[in-house]
Formats: sequence, structure tokens, C-alpha cells
Amino acid sequence: MKSLSTRRRHPLAAFVVLALGLAFAGALFAAFVSPSASADTGESAAQQIANGKALYTSSCSSCHGKAAEGTNLGPSLIGVGSASVDFQVSTGRMPAKQLGAQVEAKPNIFSTQQIQDMAAFIQSLGGGPQIPAPNEFAFDQNAVALGGQLFRQTCSQCHNFAGQGGALTDGKFAPKITGTTPQQIYEAMLTGPQNMPVFNDKVIPPAEKKAIISYLISSRNEPNYGGAGLGRLGPVSEGLFIWTIGLIALLLCAVWIAAHTTKASAQKVAKAAAGKAGK
Ligand code: HEC
Ligand code: HEC
Repeated sequence: MKSLSTRRRHPLAAFVVLALGLAFAGALFAAFVSPSASADTGESAAQQIANGKALYTSSCSSCHGKAAEGTNLGPSLIGVGSASVDFQVSTGRMPAKQLGAQVEAKPNIFSTQQIQDMAAFIQSLGGGPQIPAPNEFAFDQNAVALGGQLFRQTCSQCHNFAGQGGALTDGKFAPKITGTTPQQIYEAMLTGPQNMPVFNDKVIPPAEKKAIISYLISSRNEPNYGGAGLGRLGPVSEGLFIWTIGLIALLLCAVWIAAHTTKASAQKVAKAAAGKAGK
């Protein structure tokens, strides 16, 4: 009983609870959605598929397998769809180089035509979400307000309120999305790369995806009103941020002082005991 109450009062308990809370919220989101499948492309693209297969064989098959069945170096690409290929290759994530906590974006090495060819090849293997048509992510001024609301509800806990990105667990992170193209944003929602959940059309209907993209594009053009940028958290939350950091600093001081005094008095007691024993 006594040991339980001392443990409950451990000064680090608050941090542990906070960390667990955050991890729980993240896990809840990841469990929330599942991928969807859509119709396959027609046979008119036979040449595109043949070209895509050749490119795939030379650049991708070492990790993803000759028939995209997957190897121990990369997952199966059957059923991931053309949208996933376009997202992964156009952002430079694929072909992957070093495999760390998270495959990172880097300059893309393929032409748009080559990416479309590979995407058509992968699409031909097993369907999956397709590259969206340009009108699906066209800017719509009237949807900006709705998009902002949806973004804050659905995306900001990982990507921050202004799309500045943020850290996740285990060295993973949600990247900045201030430079991503509308098509890539659409594809990211559709395919859920790595630790990002899939937001299929049941979870976020196409019109809402368009709204989110319109909001992100319009927020890039907003002026920045001075002061040190904390990812535009806003005056209230920026105050809260300082308040929290200050509190943590004070708590750490308290922990340090407590540990120090206990140790010092323990030493005193030990010395006194030794003195008595010596007599
Ligand atoms: C060095 C090994 C390697 C090479 C080369 C490589 N990949 Fe990958 N690829 C990976 C790994 C590993 C992942 C899984 C990343 C993750 O989700 O954590 C992946 C994921 C993907 C995905 C996402 C799959 C999904 O579930 O949506 C696509 C699409 C993809 N790769 C396409 C390609 C294409 C196209 C090429 C060639 C241009 C390529 N990759 C080359 C290792 C590789
Ligand atoms: C659970 C956390 C999480 C949520 C929620 C989330 N994302 Fe992501 N997002 C990620 C992670 C992690 C990556 C990096 C994946 C990778 O590198 O393969 C990412 C990548 C992206 C990218 C690619 C950026 C680039 O250019 O590198 C875009 C765009 C994106 N997310 C948009 C969104 C949108 C829009 C929403 C809301 C509908 C959203 N995300 C919700 C975690 C999240």
C-alpha cells in the first residue's frame, strides 16, 4: 500500500501519462481506416504498361520482386494502385536508398511519362486507388473554409495547424506539407504512405479532399505577421507552449532538488550511524 502511493506520486508520472495519451491518440487514428479498391484501366494502355514494366524491372524489382510480389527488402505492390506509385516516385521516396526509421522524400529521378508508365504497370497487376484527374484537386476558393475545418480535425494532430509537420514516435515524423503539389496531397490521402492513415473516399469524400487541398494551397499565400514562428500555433497556444515548457523546467528543478536532498540526508544518516558504530 505504502509503495503504491509513493509510486503514484513519482514526479515523472505526469510525463508518462502525457506520453501514453499521445501514443493512444495516434494509434486510434491508425486503426480508424482501411484501403479501398477501384476499377482497373482499359487495355488501350498496353504500350504504356510494357514500358512501365521495363522501367520497373531495372529500377524497382530488386526490392519489390520481379512480379511485384514483394521481397524481404520491400513490400508487394500488387493492389497498391497507380496513385501510390505516382506519390512514392514523384516525391522521390522511391526508389528507396537507405532504409532507416522512415523512407524520406528526395529529388525525383524519373520523368512524368516514366512515372505514369510504371504506375500503369502496377495498376495492371491488381487495381487499387488510381491517380486522380486534375479536376479532382483543382483549387476552389469557396471550399477553403470547410477545408480548414477538416484539416484541423483530421490532419493537424500530425502535420501541425499550418502544415509545418511534426515528430511521431520511434524516429518517425509527419513531414511539412507546405511544398507538396495538390496531386501529391490527394494521393497521400488516398494511399496513406507509411505511418499516415489511408483516408479513402468513404472517410473523406472527394469533395472534402478537394476542400482540404484548396485550404492548404490558400494558406501558403497568407502573410506572416512577425514574431518568432512557432508553426503559427496562434497567440493562445503559443503562450500555452511557453507555459508548458516553463512548467517542465520548474518540475525538473524540483525533481533535481528533491533527489539531491534525499541523497545528502541519507549520507548524513549513514555517517552518523558509522560514527556510532565506531564508538
Ligand atoms: C531499396 C529497396 C527499394 C527499391 C529499389 C524500391 N523500393 Fe519501393 N519500397 C521499399 C520499401 C522498404 C517500401 C515500404 C516503405 C514503408 O511503407 O515503410 C516501399 C514502398 C513502396 C510503395 C508503397 C506501397 C504501398 O503500400 O502503398 C510503392 C508504390 C513503391 N515502393 C514503388 C516503388 C517503385 C515504383 C520503385 C522503382 C522506381 C521502387 N519502389 C523501388 C523499398 C524499395
Ligand atoms: C497519424 C498521423 C497522420 C495523419 C493524421 C495525417 N498524416 Fe499525412 N503523413 C503522415 C506521415 C507519417 C507522413 C510521411 C509518410 C512517408 O514519408 O511515407 C505523411 C505524409 C503526408 C504527405 C506527403 C508530404 C510530402 O510531400 O512529403 C501529405 C501531402 C500528407 N501527409 C497530407 C495529409 C493530409 C491532407 C492529412 C489529413 C487528411 C494527413 N496527411 C493526415 C502522418 C499523418
